[in-house]
Amino acid sequence: MRIFEIFLFLNEMMRKIFSIPVKFTAFIALYLWWAELPAQQIRMWVPSDTRDYYYQLQESGAQMKAVDLFDAQKPSLNDAVVQFNGGCTAGLISGQGLLLTNHHCGYGAIQSHSTLEHNYVKDGFWAGTLDDELPNPGMYVTFVRAIYDVTDKVLQGVSDDMDEASRQSHIDKNINRLKRTLPKKSWQEITVKPAFYGNKYYAYVTETYKDIRLVGAPPSAIGKFGADTDNWMWPRHSGDFSLFRIYADRNNRPAEYSKDNVPYHPEKYFQVSTEGVSRRDLIIVYGFPGRTREYLPAFRVRQITGRINPVRIGIRERALRVMDGFMHTNDTIKLKYTALYARIANYWKKWKGENLGIRRSDALANKEYWEQLTEKELAKQGKADEYREVKTALENTFRDLEPVEIARNVFIEAGYLNNPWMQRAFAVYEMERGLQKGGADAFEREAAKTARSMEADFQKGDRRVNKALFAAMTDVLKEKMPRGFLPEVWSGTAADDIVKAWDQSFLTDAAKMKKLLSGDFKHFENALKNDSGYKMARALINGFYGKINPEYHKRMEQVQTLMRKYVRLQMQAFPRMHFAPDANGTLRVSFGRVEGYEPRDGVYYEPFSTLDGVIEKYIPGDYEFDLPKALLDIYEHKDYGKWEVNGTVPVNFLGTAHTTGGNSGSPVLNAKGELVGLNFDRVWEGTMSDLYYDPAICRNIMVDVRYILFIMDKLGHATRLLDEINLENHQQ
Ligand code: ARG
Ligand code: GLU
Repeated sequence: MRIFEIFLFLNEMMRKIFSIPVKFTAFIALYLWWAELPAQQIRMWVPSDTRDYYYQLQESGAQMKAVDLFDAQKPSLNDAVVQFNGGCTAGLISGQGLLLTNHHCGYGAIQSHSTLEHNYVKDGFWAGTLDDELPNPGMYVTFVRAIYDVTDKVLQGVSDDMDEASRQSHIDKNINRLKRTLPKKSWQEITVKPAFYGNKYYAYVTETYKDIRLVGAPPSAIGKFGADTDNWMWPRHSGDFSLFRIYADRNNRPAEYSKDNVPYHPEKYFQVSTEGVSRRDLIIVYGFPGRTREYLPAFRVRQITGRINPVRIGIRERALRVMDGFMHTNDTIKLKYTALYARIANYWKKWKGENLGIRRSDALANKEYWEQLTEKELAKQGKADEYREVKTALENTFRDLEPVEIARNVFIEAGYLNNPWMQRAFAVYEMERGLQKGGADAFEREAAKTARSMEADFQKGDRRVNKALFAAMTDVLKEKMPRGFLPEVWSGTAADDIVKAWDQSFLTDAAKMKKLLSGDFKHFENALKNDSGYKMARALINGFYGKINPEYHKRMEQVQTLMRKYVRLQMQAFPRMHFAPDANGTLRVSFGRVEGYEPRDGVYYEPFSTLDGVIEKYIPGDYEFDLPKALLDIYEHKDYGKWEVNGTVPVNFLGTAHTTGGNSGSPVLNAKGELVGLNFDRVWEGTMSDLYYDPAICRNIMVDVRYILFIMDKLGHATRLLDEINLENHQQ
């Protein structure tokens, strides 16, 4: 009997025989649940559902309450966390709007301000005064001020026998009414999002600030030390942080960029602690995890890891090999393709780790076990048949989905993400579609815009690499696209001839492209009609929009409907259990402990890394492991000042918090709610936590805030910023 079963048993006994209040049994239940849970382990709590994690927080030794994390009535720590530019997280660390996030989250901004004379990517950047802080058009951060569980209101009048279309239109109407009636300030927004596949709905009151300026960044040799080789790996030695500042208008409200804007004054910001963390210490990660799928049946996880992931991994592997061949021997090319390479390699490596982790954690067997348990519980309520029916229907739908899902992935990977020539064709395709409405009148404006982006595109790439990528991806499209999804012009033309046609197309020739976009509309229309490269691109893209995508979405809708029922049944099977919804880009809080792990039999990884390890990895001149001379000098003279701990400086540490993509830049808090670290990655062996979280091997990776302060101090000499951060200095 597993601990979880003992829990179910105890819980029932206490309730039935001794009629002990549910609250008490729930306490024991949660304690055991915290210790071990067989399958549904998702641990990203909705901060406003304080009751769901109340006991967990109590048990963990936290010296604060759930309401300190989230309080609907008054400012609480949620007011110190923002979603950073859509895809990352950042935390406020001063009363003047100073934001701490990852280097890889701020990278685009850092790069955009870099020139040959001022290479902030290479040398780092530290604004000496407020006036030196650099604006970033288009950048934004979003606060979540309030969260409401609006399930009842959204599902009002919705019944089980409605078909999906009328159900949805009913829900949309309810949501629109809700948006008009929920209280909000004029500068705030309300979004309503489903959770548990539409079994629950939450409304979020948000505030978006749009004047975000770059304040500081370490040299990239520190910010992305270890680059792709170390990505998703432990031991890790990266200073993956950067600093920004929120600017507001004179009333402290959101405003478009203006010279007259002033630093934002938050109601709450994180106290930075230099106390550090020890083994087994509580950590709290507060952020915006993007997407997890923890409630899927074993069948689907087997399909994702066995059928879908291998396709994506294989395609990316080919693209990476092509790029690698050029990058190895040519420095100019290396520079041009590092960013694309890193982007492709990131999820290539993640999916590989995911597949290994699913096997190693015995996820399929554990999930199947959970399914049996669920069925057993539901049988007591007379719902076992319903459960089996839904499960079978789900399996059938997933089986039907497979070819179109593979087609979709082949298209996205080979026809877009790993194929710069096709990306260019896409831009022209978008323009062509736009002109169908606007016609000749719109041409001049659109052509000028496209011409600018095309010029940049031709400059940033290299013809030889793009052509080799195109050739490789053409082979992939021909080999991997499931029957019936590849347009005639592609399946019926030899690969060599396809490449030849593209070689002569205006799509791959800067001069032809320029001429076309500066000529007249008729000329442009004719070229699009006659260029055989572009005709192929159009056919491929039309096939995606006209066939692959609609078929995929049709089936995914069926999946959504069935998953809604499937998840509801799981929740009904264990009515007293606390479930957290899958990550969906909304604000979450996750608890864990500082803890090492065993990546393989006979190997144990300590949860801490230090500056000594940074130096151990140092390879002069290497693009991943080179180090700034300033850091080497500091090491040489052991000039660590107050950042010295046991003769070195702490760098990264590991924890058991459940995180995913989007949690990059999340503030990591100790038991007192003070900031001790900055989340930036997960360990490779545990990347399957998006599908199945296993506390034995899933670890999140954080930068120790003391490394951040050390770099700011000793390398950046950023005394202005260090003074601004309210340091609770326990070392003095
Ligand atoms: N693996 C981290 C995250 O998923 C960091 C990615 C950035 N670094 C890189 N080498 N690509 O997104
Ligand atoms: N690096 C990821 C991000 O950018 C976080 C790592 C993860 O996926 O856990 O969000």
